[in-house]
Amino acid sequence: MTRNRVEVLHGVNLSELGRRDSEQYGGVTYQELQVRVGEFGRELDLELRFFQTNHEGEFVEHLHRLPEVADAALLNPGAWTHYSYAIRDALEIAGLPAVEVHLSDVRSREEWRQHSVLEDLVIGAVSGKGPDGYREALEMLKDELG
Ligand code: DQA
Repeated sequence: MTRNRVEVLHGVNLSELGRRDSEQYGGVTYQELQVRVGEFGRELDLELRFFQTNHEGEFVEHLHRLPEVADAALLNPGAWTHYSYAIRDALEIAGLPAVEVHLSDVRSREEWRQHSVLEDLVIGAVSGKGPDGYREALEMLKDELG
């Protein structure tokens, strides 16, 4: 059976991407990002589904259900990345291969953004490459799914 279903999860404030600091996020809207990432998915022959919420509990519950509908996860949890142990635990429960993506270069921004609570759970992390970083993350997941 082909394992090619990747869930693309976006967390808090990513719905408002087009209104955020364009120096960091490039002025792309969440809808435009979805279209770009969807194209990457088609090019790589991956079946993508998108999910976004601004509610932490909803994100957690979505991760709980994930093994029923996906083989892997691409996550940009926004600010939750840096402090949500609840999301970290839920990702561990999901037990799927996951890659973390950030549009901006979190390693060169404020100190609080330089740490990720997901670090030791994900198979890789990409940051500072804008929407193209999602392609790199999808390639990592495709390799992992084999
Ligand atoms: C972000 C980086 C986070 O630090 C920030 O809180 C976001 C977006 C990114 O994509 O660069 O909301 O995850």
